Amino acid sequence: MSWQRIRIARFGGPEVLELAEEPVIPDPGAAEARIKILAAGTGFTDSFIRRGGYPDFKGPLPFTPGYELVGVVEKAGADVVAPREGQIVADLCVVGGYAQYAIRPARFLVPVPDGIDAAEAVCIPLAYLTAFQMLTRYRRLSAGETILVIGASGTVGTALLDLARHFGLNAIGTCSAANLTTVEQFGAAAIDYRAGDFVTSVRQLTAGRVGGAGVDAAFDAIGGSHFDRSFACLALGGILIGYGAQTMAMGRESIIAAGLGLARLKLWGALSFLFGGRRAIWYSITDRRVSHPEEFKADMAALFELLRNGAIRPVVIGREPLAAARNVHARIDAGGLGGKIVLLPWLTV
Ligand SMILES: NC(=O)c1ccc[n+]([C@@H]2O[C@H](COP(=O)([O-])OP(=O)(O)OC[C@H]3O[C@@H](n4cnc5c(N)ncnc54)[C@H](OP(=O)(O)O)[C@@H]3O)[C@@H](O)[C@H]2O)c1
Repeated sequence: MSWQRIRIARFGGPEVLELAEEPVIPDPGAAEARIKILAAGTGFTDSFIRRGGYPDFKGPLPFTPGYELVGVVEKAGADVVAPREGQIVADLCVVGGYAQYAIRPARFLVPVPDGIDAAEAVCIPLAYLTAFQMLTRYRRLSAGETILVIGASGTVGTALLDLARHFGLNAIGTCSAANLTTVEQFGAAAIDYRAGDFVTSVRQLTAGRVGGAGVDAAFDAIGGSHFDRSFACLALGGILIGYGAQTMAMGRESIIAAGLGLARLKLWGALSFLFGGRRAIWYSITDRRVSHPEEFKADMAALFELLRNGAIRPVVIGREPLAAARNVHARIDAGGLGGKIVLLPWLTV
């Protein structure tokens, strides 16, 4: 039986995404499992990979994009004990999600509890795990403290807002005018970053804070010189977590400017005593998975429980077949989506 996948044979715009037919369903080798994919997440990072700029994946070409997937273990390699065949699992695969089948190392697969919608579950491995680890692994934030989310209408941004609401944190989010209501739906204060200086707005919104104006933690994936402005929003003892270089990825800032942004994070982290205890760090989900593998499955399991209990609600704005991948990437590149589009590889049009 033939099956379908999206194939990229050269880096470039959305037009490089091609729907391909494969004649033979692959078998898993030792320590592997064949996954029948039920849902594949899409997002900015896939577009970054497609353009060839993503530091953690440079090929080889051709390849199938798709950073995260949820599917059913259809066939396990002879020596695989867990997960078992028939189990629903999630995976942060970096590439390979936009397909009907994937062969994946069994040790990376995380069980998805019964009763969870696959399209909502696939929001967990990248966006929610990133948000969860940034919120819980660097500083103990207590209910009532305030966070600033830059790019709050994005997939990581909305995950941060959703989890902040769950943890009882106050949130302030920056986004474009069209997405103000998306941000406010999470109970956050929304700032249109194009309408003025968000640093002034954040200072005004936090003016009554005991101990001085500012936020307790800020999350910024814009990168480069933008880190300066997020750092300026911190209260005494606050932390800035940088986790992206979006302006560089979109060609709006040079690699040198992005590098200087990273250097500033390091400086603020090392010399926090000079900045009223304010500090900064860099977060990367792929680095964290290598340095703290034990956290990875535990944090994903915690998130699936929250999802199953209805404590968190990912924003899924579209469910599309594989054939729509080009159009989905064009929409991601245009910006302003306000949520995640999920590919359902078995959906027919
Ligand atoms: N380090 C890690 O481990 C890690 C993990 C996941 C993602 N990331 C990175 O995080 C970034 C966001 O990913 P995503 O999936 O959330 O992307 P996304 O869904 O495309 O969201 C990005 C958001 O950024 C907003 N934005 C663009 N320019 C802005 C500006 N100048 N000020 C404030 N907001 C601005 C956009 O908001 P509007 O549309 O409202 O303008 C958009 O909603 C990407 O760079 C991605 O590579 C890093």
